Amino acid sequence: MEAAKSYLKTIASSAWIRLLGGRGEFYELADRTALVREGDLSKEVCTQLVDRIDDILSVRSQPRVWRDKVDSDARIWGFEQDIGDLVDQFQISRRIEAIEKYLGRPVRSWFLMANRVVPQESNQGSGGGFHRDSPFSHQVKCIWYLTDVASDNGPFEFIPGSHSNAIPSRDRYPLGHYRLENIHKDDRLVEVLADAGSLLVCDTKCIHRGKPIETGSRYAVTLYTSPHKDGWERQLRGLGLDFPPKQKVFDE
Ligand SMILES: [Fe+2]
Repeated sequence: MEAAKSYLKTIASSAWIRLLGGRGEFYELADRTALVREGDLSKEVCTQLVDRIDDILSVRSQPRVWRDKVDSDARIWGFEQDIGDLVDQFQISRRIEAIEKYLGRPVRSWFLMANRVVPQESNQGSGGGFHRDSPFSHQVKCIWYLTDVASDNGPFEFIPGSHSNAIPSRDRYPLGHYRLENIHKDDRLVEVLADAGSLLVCDTKCIHRGKPIETGSRYAVTLYTSPHKDGWERQLRGLGLDFPPKQKVFDE
């Protein structure tokens, strides 16, 4: 019964995108899974944002900060509250319009998350290993690299096509599963290597992770959007966090 439900949900989600979405600035995601736009932020802005992240993370008791168990991944939730005018640099309204057109449904809330990832023994990389952000519905994340990202400092990596081939690949990756232990040996992983200031846009229904970091550091800002007004609470509750609701909410 569960398997049949998962099957139907997967079919419904693909049909939704085909009929109502797949348009706008990010339309290519339907075929390409991820896009990279170099030079979306200037180097100067990247430097200012990195400094701001370091300042915030230097205070251990800062609210809205989460750290993973091995102190490799440190995250500032609701980062838009910390950066004043710099938030305009992300052109949030433009991104949201593009996301709505791709998904074919309205965005009702959003927030930014900034993170710094550094090497620690047995770190799992940003995001804690291979996963899908949502196993059934399509979802879009915009991720800005604030530092140059190479293969050894924690690039985003994903399986091309895995946002749209859940049914044919269900023997490898069971439908409805968020977390995935390993990638099948025949699947090709793409590492997104790009300079500071690059914008990576991804349909994060795909199988992806931040590659475990070996050297240096990786700074990034991610735009989270939700079809729900309480997207912030839903997201953080899912992570076992309990910060005050502060996301930007759009009126009907
Ligand atoms: Fe993710």
